[in-house]
Amino acid sequence: MCGIVGYIGGQNATPIILNGLRRLEYRGYDSAGLAVLQNGKIEIRRDAGKLDHLVTLVTNQPVEGNLGIGHTRWATHGEPNARNAHPHLGSTGEVVLVHNGIVENFLELREELEAEGEKFNSDTDSEIIVHLIEHAVAAGHSLENATRLALKQIKGAHGIVVFSSREPDKIVAARIGNAGGVVIGLGEDENYVASDIPAIVEHTRRMMFLESRQMAVITRADVKIETLEGKPVQPEIHTISWDPIAAEKGEYRHFMQKEIHEQVRSLTDTLAGRVNFDEGKVRLPHLNLTPEKALRIKQVILTACGTASYAAQVGEVLIERIARIPAKTVIASELRYNDPIIDENTVVLAISQSGETADTLAAMDECRKRGATLWSIVNAIGSQAMRVADGYISMQAGPEIGVASTKAFTAPLVDLYILAVLLADLRGVITPEQRRKLVSDLRLVPDLVGRCLDREAGVIQVAREMKYIHNMLYLGRGINMPIAFEGALKLKEISYIHAEGYAAGEMKHGPIALVDRDMPVLAIAPRDPWYEKMISQIEQARARGGGVIVVATDGDERVAALADHVFWIPETPWMLSPVVTVIPLQLFAYHIASLKGLDVDQPRNLAKSVTVE
Ligand code: F6R
Repeated sequence: MCGIVGYIGGQNATPIILNGLRRLEYRGYDSAGLAVLQNGKIEIRRDAGKLDHLVTLVTNQPVEGNLGIGHTRWATHGEPNARNAHPHLGSTGEVVLVHNGIVENFLELREELEAEGEKFNSDTDSEIIVHLIEHAVAAGHSLENATRLALKQIKGAHGIVVFSSREPDKIVAARIGNAGGVVIGLGEDENYVASDIPAIVEHTRRMMFLESRQMAVITRADVKIETLEGKPVQPEIHTISWDPIAAEKGEYRHFMQKEIHEQVRSLTDTLAGRVNFDEGKVRLPHLNLTPEKALRIKQVILTACGTASYAAQVGEVLIERIARIPAKTVIASELRYNDPIIDENTVVLAISQSGETADTLAAMDECRKRGATLWSIVNAIGSQAMRVADGYISMQAGPEIGVASTKAFTAPLVDLYILAVLLADLRGVITPEQRRKLVSDLRLVPDLVGRCLDREAGVIQVAREMKYIHNMLYLGRGINMPIAFEGALKLKEISYIHAEGYAAGEMKHGPIALVDRDMPVLAIAPRDPWYEKMISQIEQARARGGGVIVVATDGDERVAALADHVFWIPETPWMLSPVVTVIPLQLFAYHIASLKGLDVDQPRNLAKSVTVE
């Protein structure tokens, strides 16, 4: 889950790498470093901590050259200190490498190399690779062949980028498995390589993606891709339509705040081209669905991690309720080890903002082996989860930089609703009138979300009062139960306040013992089919002296009378209510963390794309 960027061409590589790393810092910010070929010699600058430390180092000790690679690290093996920062230089000083992934057999390889007299300069698993490559280079192999030989010896999933001062006209990049995406950006007499599109999209929109077990030899003028076995590959060139300006913070203090506010736009984009309000119809062209295919589906298994798995849980309700197809969510890190019951009539729907989450990709692999049809809902265009699926829905969220996911949560909620309506229509389980009503409700969504955002000041007031709490219990039922989980996750990950999301009906089976003055409760109680039940749960919490915040529908004085604070939301059709109820919870978590002066966009220990298992 580290970030990688590399450049070869006529410009100075250093600022290009630093800018690229800035856009990748969300992938990890334990340390950062770069290596540049300066007058035929590899120069390295690297430091612990955030990229700013590296920028200061480079300002004090400048380095310049036309070829370079850089890295921002999320530590797996070895402490997050300067010694373990990438790039790693081989003992001869002639080969340098950046790596994303875990070398599973590194201990035994390290012992072998140490027994042969090799000296290690870090505690990382990554350093082993550079030694293996430099040994092969010293034995007379070209850099690409040496890389091939090294990769044969290591276990695990990897993305690597490497260069050698012996062959100063090339960068070699390779990918094995799902850990490290590698994207190559094509320029004019210059080329780029990165782990992620945002790192290089300001320079070029023409990109190629390495698949597993492929390697690229990148020169100024050319990019040659082969399999690790040496078979030439003719890659597809994708044109990326993202606007790099969309990745700037603009008037907002943090990316997360900007992204919360972008949801009116992202949800409008999500509807565009998919919903025909005049005809009351929906379409998802990249799923290639027909009535016959839709009728063959016996079950839908949704799989994802973290926030995306809560979107999946909402989707499960929608698919069962609207399309009447059995649906269940299995978190991706569990699915592959569960011996899942899957056949060719099962659709496995993976949801992933990054499209590179290792657990999600591994779950997809497993389900593919068992004969399922694979679909994905993905934000990062061209990502692995999009490419390996039989059909996909592309989120229209745009780049999400804040580590805590917001707009890439609400976009798939709407995608899942559209999918449920489409499946229901193709299977003939809803009447045209029902379909038209479901579709026309969608038109309301951007405006409803906008109206919640307009109430930000009210949320800030509550956040001011609550910012010193140490615990919080989030309760929801039915379609809003996953929103309780998501609200709690948002609070804990960016404000470090202990928060738990619970199915409200389960409270009386245990957690109610926790409720007292120090454990406030946040109850999600819009007017949905579970409303009456939520009221009784709020009353139970209140009776135990817990402070209560409710998310309630405008004008609902009955709930308001039970609460210390209310986050008001406009009246919303219940099947779309999660898109709306989550907005005040995103704002609440954001403002608590921001008022506490915490690093909202880069919370400790986290990274945006979790490309390790
Ligand atoms: C939390 C968050 C994570 C991600 C999870 C999956 O705010 O962002 O829980 O949802 O790591 O990531 P993707 O969607 O990229 O597969």
